[in-house]
Amino acid sequence: MLTVEDNKMLTQTGPGTPMGELFRRFWLPVMLSEEIPAADGPPKRLRIMSEDLIAFRDSNGEVGILDAYCPHRGAPLFFGRNEECGLRCVYHGWKFDVNGVCVDLPNSPEGETYKDKVSIKSYPGVDKGGVIWAYMGPKDKQPPLPELGFMSVPASHRYVWRMELECNYFQSMEGDIDSSHVNFLHSVLGDVRSNPQVRHRDADPDRLTGTVPQYVHLEDTEYGVGHVTVVNRGDGTQMVNTGSWLMPCFTLGSAAEGVGQQNIRVPIDDEHCQFYRIRHDIDAPLTEKELWECKHSNFVYPPLIPGTFTPTSNKHNDYQIDRVMQKNFNFTGIRSFSTQDTALIEDQRGAIMDRNNEHLVTSDNAIIQIRKRLLGLARDLMEGKEPPTTSNPNLYHMRSRRFNVPQGEDVLEEAVSYLAPAGS
Ligand code: FES
Ligand SMILES: [Fe+2]
Repeated sequence: MLTVEDNKMLTQTGPGTPMGELFRRFWLPVMLSEEIPAADGPPKRLRIMSEDLIAFRDSNGEVGILDAYCPHRGAPLFFGRNEECGLRCVYHGWKFDVNGVCVDLPNSPEGETYKDKVSIKSYPGVDKGGVIWAYMGPKDKQPPLPELGFMSVPASHRYVWRMELECNYFQSMEGDIDSSHVNFLHSVLGDVRSNPQVRHRDADPDRLTGTVPQYVHLEDTEYGVGHVTVVNRGDGTQMVNTGSWLMPCFTLGSAAEGVGQQNIRVPIDDEHCQFYRIRHDIDAPLTEKELWECKHSNFVYPPLIPGTFTPTSNKHNDYQIDRVMQKNFNFTGIRSFSTQDTALIEDQRGAIMDRNNEHLVTSDNAIIQIRKRLLGLARDLMEGKEPPTTSNPNLYHMRSRRFNVPQGEDVLEEAVSYLAPAGS
């Protein structure tokens, strides 16, 4: 349970809010690289942490992230001409480069001198790891880019994807660190080997018949929180998973042995967020089978309405719940694994959950710990203490692990050793 004030602090990220200021100390993904694929291509609208912005790639391929509106008389730059290293407002022709400098002010005799006095809000943008990153904080506090595993591997080693959700970023992120929901929300009914909900994908039936996963180890670290879960499987083995929450909004787990899954939530505003789900293999290209699961199984990555980042099964069609499926095949009647999560998180008494009105139990320990950590970081920053990871991008160099051993074997010490950043 959180006080009303702490819940506000946790969930509000607009300019000037404590959590908004904390998030603005970090580089954050704001779109996929493919959304602005070409130099001088069409600009793209963006809303991040309640700020309306426009992103474009200039003639040199540099990324520009500017205020969505022109400083002259507030016209939308979305309709601008992206030409000769700058974005030109089509209302009266003012032109801005990727750094927000006004490089042409052609509609007035005093333009040549006045343009030096005009600028537009701009944020640094970088294309890395298949994602466009923005830094929206104070210039003198700009950190190096984090070194998340997927960012440094060749494109063949990763699958980068995003969608947009109609709820607060934290509500969505809490689902990742809520281990005890897995065997309920995502479970199937009856004999899993003959269940069409399992058969249509590369499922592991012994995993699905295992015990409810619980965190057996949670640890505060410099990068955030590291955790270990152990699940007893139906075949007599136990599956050990290590993962991490990296401040402020990155969670890392395993999709399969050797394949990391990095989930990232970026606030659009307080009631909407972007959700990135990025799979990567540090050592090898993703296999044909892994890529098929990502692109075509419609299971872990739900289909999106073409031209949007909105899932086809969404809040407005009750996630296409099928009550016959719910009676006979799976727990929810909702087809995609991801959509099962989305259906439950987009409306927890609304898009911003009231955490003053909840009843947590011990299986919610990770949620409690991460809330505490994030609130602590926001309070520290209010008192002038910068977050620890921003000066050390190596702290993001984490790998998740998944392995099976016979039940009863004590593997905690080995698992905990993986909670340190690689190479530290
Ligand atoms: S409003 Fe953009 S140039 Fe006038
Ligand atoms: Fe889930």
